[in-house]
Amino acid sequence: MIKGFIFDLDGVITDTAELHYTAWKKLSDDMDWHFDRDLNEKLRGISRMDSIKVIMDHNDVSLDDEAVVELATKKNDIYVESLDDMTPEDYLPGARELLTHLRSEGFRVALGSASKNANKVLKQLNATHFFDVIGDGNSVSKSKPAPDIFLYASEKLGLSPENCIVFEDAEKGIDAAKAGKFHSVGIGPEERVGHADIRFDTMKEATLFEVKSHFKDLF
Ligand code: BG6
Ligand code: MG
Repeated sequence: MIKGFIFDLDGVITDTAELHYTAWKKLSDDMDWHFDRDLNEKLRGISRMDSIKVIMDHNDVSLDDEAVVELATKKNDIYVESLDDMTPEDYLPGARELLTHLRSEGFRVALGSASKNANKVLKQLNATHFFDVIGDGNSVSKSKPAPDIFLYASEKLGLSPENCIVFEDAEKGIDAAKAGKFHSVGIGPEERVGHADIRFDTMKEATLFEVKSHFKDLF
């Protein structure tokens, strides 16, 4: 039976991809590295340190660990500053409605995000109160596609993976949910999240009614 829901943050609750893009682009321009929206798409769901490695590999650059951390920190400073402009108007359409509905029906709800800035994003959205458990980039050391962040969230909820549905917009996020034996809902195009148990183009279509009709034997 489904008793809990675990949500990814970026791309599911709110769309931060453009803010990440702007911050990585600024760093890349400063470093004379190539960076475009296609490359930004490859960073969906993966950690900050994995992201900078993807960008450096793409540019055939190698630097010592200390320099890499310094550059990732520089990008993060730009990103965090841009979050100051985020408001409760910035939920993806349908996300706040679904969270509200789940709480009113008594489901347990957790966050399972790779971001180390999740608390700040939730605060800007005024969304913290929706979550019984907040799992973020500081909670585990192995990031998606490892299942660790979702296992952390379900354990803190006191539920087994088979009692939880994970919402994800990233290919590696669905990989992580499947590796942990969670039920999964993919948000986005077939080529990205077509391997989820069920897929919706956007959060607007992902209502509790639709989710229940797909997993009907589990409710
Ligand atoms: C994920 C985003 O949620 O968080 C990734 O999809 C991002 O693009 C990752 O790299 C880490 O975020 P942060 O905020 O810790 O740099
Ligand atoms: Mg995401």
